[in-house]
Amino acid sequence: MTSPLPAARIAPSLLAADFARLGDETTTVIAAGADWIHFDVMDNHFVPNLTMGPMVCAALRPHTQAPIDVHLMVEPVDALIPAFAQAGANIISFHPEASRHVDRTLALIRDHGCQAGLVFNPATPLHWMDHLMERLDLVLLMSVNPGFGGQSFIPHTLAKLTQARARIDAWQAQGGQPIALEVDGGVKADNIADIRAAGADVFVAGSAIFGQPDYAQVIATLRQGIAQGDARHLIHK
Ligand code: DX5
Ligand code: ZN
Repeated sequence: MTSPLPAARIAPSLLAADFARLGDETTTVIAAGADWIHFDVMDNHFVPNLTMGPMVCAALRPHTQAPIDVHLMVEPVDALIPAFAQAGANIISFHPEASRHVDRTLALIRDHGCQAGLVFNPATPLHWMDHLMERLDLVLLMSVNPGFGGQSFIPHTLAKLTQARARIDAWQAQGGQPIALEVDGGVKADNIADIRAAGADVFVAGSAIFGQPDYAQVIATLRQGIAQGDARHLIHK
């Protein structure tokens, strides 16, 4: 038996939205029950794709009060942090491989008034967290290799989520600040219960939501899966 998980939040990834109507997509998906907007930034260098930058974030900011969760898949990282903070980002996360000084980059994000997150690729070990816990507001586990939407969830992410949840719970048990545990890539109605049971509390979903005509219906289905996962988390741990 273990303690209940933090409240679940659903963060639709705009990568799968209609890029010609990003403002409408943002307001529609939040009205449909989503919690955060996940904003994927790709630079055709750290990852083999090119998406959107701070100007698009600034253009969306007036359209929603929901937190904008900026996932930087860029190298180098630091110069974009003030730009995204200025553009209205609430949470900024980056990959440790993309920063020469990870501790400094995390501090820079908070210095600019945002919450700071570290992103773990499928092959990136969790020990990157070891000396950084007090700098973290969010840990994001990639369940696909970054660069594209619509990929399949990598199953070993479930075991990694359980390990990350244990580290975060131990940190908070000794008086540490809350750290959100986010998962990104291939999250669908048919696997979200397992992902919740393994300990995630923020769920990025791109194609699962924007690929369907009725966003409210998908989000309600995802929440049912999360509730099933909650029950299993409490019973099986
Ligand atoms: C992948 C991105 C994800 C992606 C998720 O590099 O970071 O946010 O858009 O898309 P789905 O949910 O379609 O896997
Ligand atoms: Zn992402």
